[in-house]
Amino acid sequence: MLRVQAGPWPAGEYPLSSAWLRSKDVSGLRPERLGVDGGGHSVSDGSAKKDTPLKTYRDHYFLKAKQEHYPARSVYKLQELDRRFRIFAKGMRVLDLGAAPGSWSLYAAGQVGPQGFVLGADLVAAETAFPAQVLFVREDVYAPSPEFAALLRDRGPFQVVLSDMAPATIGHRATDQARSAALCREAFELARRCLKQGGSFVYKVFMGPEVKTLSDDLRRCFAAVKSHKPAGSRPESMETFYVARGFKASFP
Ligand SMILES: C[S@@+](CC[C@H](N)C(=O)[O-])C[C@H]1O[C@@H](n2cnc3c(N)ncnc32)[C@H](O)[C@@H]1O
Repeated sequence: MLRVQAGPWPAGEYPLSSAWLRSKDVSGLRPERLGVDGGGHSVSDGSAKKDTPLKTYRDHYFLKAKQEHYPARSVYKLQELDRRFRIFAKGMRVLDLGAAPGSWSLYAAGQVGPQGFVLGADLVAAETAFPAQVLFVREDVYAPSPEFAALLRDRGPFQVVLSDMAPATIGHRATDQARSAALCREAFELARRCLKQGGSFVYKVFMGPEVKTLSDDLRRCFAAVKSHKPAGSRPESMETFYVARGFKASFP
């Protein structure tokens, strides 16, 4: 584990990380030329390669997120999923994989309240100031550290596992889809190990040939698995979201 970052969070609002937003001011560069994770953070989800940078980065949800002090527009996708599927309740423990820059963790923290707990993990750091019930750690899900394994054991089981993870897209559709599916598999394995019985697993995947096998495998472990593409997800984006509810196995 590289770094741990937790609350507190000042005066009842989610402070916007201006440094993070500045870092996304692409000034004429397309997302894939930003280098690290053009397919990663939601403002640069790699789906708008034909758009001008202005349209890509200043759309309705981007501006709304800015006004409401969320570091990424992806928050509205989770909000819509939550309104539709009622994912969260006060006091829940949530594992958020691919949590940077932090919008989903902030939203989940608001839903579970101060009695709840959100463990956010991502390859990259989040500059967002989180409330006290959020613990953010830098982790690669493909190489979890012993400290992360201990956190999962000590702070779990979780009622909800979220995965908004996305690979660094290279623009080769089949490769991007395969990498996205591999991240979902990894998230599924983690969910199987640390979800509470009856819990939910919410994940994002780039639609491709492996998606059906993945959802079929999930159906063996969950009472219901449904897909949904929220309004906040651009129509041209190949991402869609799955919500699996009613985890069948008990926590070991
Ligand atoms: C779309 S962003 C997540 C946005 C986040 N849900 C939010 O609302 O702020 C996708 C994230 O997946 C992360 N990611 C990709 N591969 C990962 C891995 N192997 N382990 C952990 N995180 C990963 C990326 O670093 C990126 O921050």
